[in-house]
Amino acid sequence: MLDQASRTAADVAAVRALCSAAPPGQRIMYDALSLQMIPPPWRFWRFMLSGPLRSINYQFLRSCAHFKSGSRGMCEVVALRYRHIDDQLQDAYERGIRQVLLLGAGFDYRAYRPEYTDVHFIEVDHPATQAAKLALLDEHHVSTLGRVSYIGVDFMGDWASTLQQSGALGNEPTFVIWEGVAYYLDGQAVCYTLQTLLDQLPADSQLIFDCAPVQDDSARELQRAARYAASHGEPMLWGGTMHEVEALLNSFHLSTPKIHRFSDLMRTLMVEESLSLPIEPVFDQFYMVEVVLNGRPPHIA
Ligand SMILES: C[S@@+](CC[C@H](N)C(=O)[O-])C[C@H]1O[C@@H](n2cnc3c(N)ncnc32)[C@H](O)[C@@H]1O
Repeated sequence: MLDQASRTAADVAAVRALCSAAPPGQRIMYDALSLQMIPPPWRFWRFMLSGPLRSINYQFLRSCAHFKSGSRGMCEVVALRYRHIDDQLQDAYERGIRQVLLLGAGFDYRAYRPEYTDVHFIEVDHPATQAAKLALLDEHHVSTLGRVSYIGVDFMGDWASTLQQSGALGNEPTFVIWEGVAYYLDGQAVCYTLQTLLDQLPADSQLIFDCAPVQDDSARELQRAARYAASHGEPMLWGGTMHEVEALLNSFHLSTPKIHRFSDLMRTLMVEESLSLPIEPVFDQFYMVEVVLNGRPPHIA
């Protein structure tokens, strides 16, 4: 249960900065703001990842990140999900979607990018993480170019009314990003979130999230990552196989989700962008789920 600013949110933000500094043939994603605003406790990386020694420092910090998380490939998992979501966000934007709901926004800086000034971003997060992010934005004098709404909630509680009463959603079709968050909730909170989205969003909204079978003891790399998160007070509680998650979505009348294993996403990206990176075993554990939120089915008990 989260009772302070999320450490894993700071960690993945630092990993995005690191991956943005990768040499071109190994660069899965790029986010200029991630490099500028690295949250504590990793802010010293900013100086290491800029300046003349940045390529040496990049290799050094990447090895440190592997060592610290205890898990090879977790940096790439973070980069790959960010990249895939970015590509889907861009597609949604080109289809005319102008509202994005970030559930568990952490230090996600998409709302502050110049290309999305005509998009309304709604950042929902734990109040402690949100306060840490707002302090960082303030420190870097980042002003919101477009419209951003901030809503503080505890996803393990009864937060639907807070979202509803904020009036932030309106009746706009919305692209919902639930990136790196569901792992830290329990099954009840995951179902509550799905029901809340179905209750409050209009048809043709879209949800994208990443998932893994976090209880699978045989998935060693995944278990190491889970132990790292738990050691910082954020145990991974929820996950499942692709079939289990598909069955859960079906029980909410959310049928035909698109599901992609990270290993497949990585292979495709490597071909498209001539990247040269190893396919790590952990990529087979993680997958992305994309589903259209079509209508409002009755509440599931
Ligand atoms: C690993 S971070 C991911 C952050 C962001 N989506 C990203 O990818 O950079 C997990 C996020 O979930 C949020 N979170 C976890 N448990 C929560 C809870 N019970 N209530 C509200 N937010 C929670 C944390 O505050 C944090 O922002």
